[in-house]
Amino acid sequence: MRDQLKVFACSGNPDLAKEICRFLSVKLGDSSVMKFTNDNTKVKIEENVREADVFVIQSSVPPVNDGIMELLIMIDALKYASAKRITAVLPYYPYVRSDKKDEPRISITARLVADLLKTAGTDRVLTMNLHSPQIAGFFEIPVDHLAATPILCRHFEKKDLNCHVLVAPDAGSAKRAGRYANRLHLPLAILDKRRSGDDETPAIENIIGDVEDRNVIIFDDEIATGGSICETVDALKRHGAKDIYVSAVHPVLCGSAMERISDLPIKELVVTNTIPVHDKAAQEPRITVLSVAPLFAKAISHIHSGESVSNLFS
Ligand code: R5P
Repeated sequence: MRDQLKVFACSGNPDLAKEICRFLSVKLGDSSVMKFTNDNTKVKIEENVREADVFVIQSSVPPVNDGIMELLIMIDALKYASAKRITAVLPYYPYVRSDKKDEPRISITARLVADLLKTAGTDRVLTMNLHSPQIAGFFEIPVDHLAATPILCRHFEKKDLNCHVLVAPDAGSAKRAGRYANRLHLPLAILDKRRSGDDETPAIENIIGDVEDRNVIIFDDEIATGGSICETVDALKRHGAKDIYVSAVHPVLCGSAMERISDLPIKELVVTNTIPVHDKAAQEPRITVLSVAPLFAKAISHIHSGESVSNLFS
């Protein structure tokens, strides 16, 4: 049927894709992915998508490079199957931290991924909490950049936020954390975090703002190795912070992150399901997982019907 809404999923986050489909009341599109003996990937779209408005969901999880190829091949297959419009839905964008040339002779890989998506046949992109909002400018096609802030704020609004301070873990996140602080009516403190090269344990040089005898909520875009969060919590404790809550949009939680977190003197770690985290949340009872599926479903529905997406930020 012309302009019919169809949703397909790659293998990165099948549970989130199913949940988004449930909110949209659409059946997840039928596709198959297989690997030949020579390690080449084959994707087949198992239903008619001619003239359809197609959304392909893929979150960046290990093996990251295989995930990118799977997404590109699926988009290519949809294009050659005559889909009318293809939107790449990327709850966690691949190579999101490789967004600048901060050393000589390195790649800006997030930009390369943008080029590859367009070349494959992507017409638009829907994503969430990019490491820097400028990544949207890497694309020559429209990008809708969702924020998980309302979801995280709703969680903390249920708590008694007396004597709390919102903490931005580095200067780069201060603007984003400021919006979070405004919404929760909290003062803001900013950490002066310095990382040399690819160092997993950055140094906290200073804290701008008052955290002594206050409860704090740290807001970060992602926790990967856990190095930043350990240093942040340590610095806050040294400066007299009381109860510490951590909120992060993307639970990358790679390497020894889980062991590091289990040793942290925090009350709660609140994350979303942009990346599958159920096995890790089962290991660590202080992890709360909030679903982004309703927000993605609404955004997909608005894009499909041509409504504004910006009103979803409030
Ligand atoms: C850094 O710019 C980000 O906002 C996060 O703080 C960082 O990605 C966390 O990485 P890790 O957990 O490996 O320190």
